[in-house]
Amino acid sequence: MNKPANLSTFTPQQPIWDRVFMVFPLVIIGTREEDGSYDLAPKHMAIPLSWQNHFGFVCTPRHGTYHNAKREGVFTVSYPNPTQWLQSSLAASPRDSEGHKPALKALKTFPAEEIDGVFVHDGYLYFECEIDRIIDDFDINSLIVGKIIRTHVDSDALRDADQDDQELIFNNPLISYLHPGRFTQIRDSMAFPFPKGMKK
Ligand SMILES: Cc1cc2nc3c(=O)[nH]c(=O)nc-3n(C[C@H](O)[C@H](O)[C@H](O)COP(=O)(O)O)c2cc1C
Repeated sequence: MNKPANLSTFTPQQPIWDRVFMVFPLVIIGTREEDGSYDLAPKHMAIPLSWQNHFGFVCTPRHGTYHNAKREGVFTVSYPNPTQWLQSSLAASPRDSEGHKPALKALKTFPAEEIDGVFVHDGYLYFECEIDRIIDDFDINSLIVGKIIRTHVDSDALRDADQDDQELIFNNPLISYLHPGRFTQIRDSMAFPFPKGMKK
């Protein structure tokens, strides 16, 4: 079979990520700063790393989040609702000359229970994580891996044998970040047609 005529081909010298859209989650990572205040920063490169309790996100050592997580040994994860696009964006505001992010004052928070950290109010899913390992040198990025030690979920967003999954997502829509620079709200969904006999 020949290569399809409509394919453009790129070398590793031409990273593709800003040339095509891809679907990502959007989370807000919470860490404790050296002065005892709390930082919040949005991340889209963030996913569960096992069927158990591993969660990882990609961060660069150029960001405060990396150093805070490494020093404190813990971080929080807040999954915002689609209405929280503004809060998610504000959490990426640049730091001022003293290293603070004044824009974070616009985000309502509540404390984690098991670790020293905060969550963003009005999200639907929250993790309290202890650092499991940090893997550096993916170019300028690192993978920060946590072990989830507590999870909190908005009860309305919890799956329930008595409720249809489609209805659940319709009533509790999800936000997705479409890199680069767009987002969407997901309400419509379909059951995935798994092949007969498939094992996880
Ligand atoms: C929608 C969105 C997604 C982002 N995703 C990531 C990401 O996955 N990894 C990353 O290192 N930075 C990401 N950033 C950038 C940082 O979170 C941002 O620069 C942040 O302000 C760094 O703050 P800090 O110094 O407090 O850690 C993202 C920013 C936005 C707006």
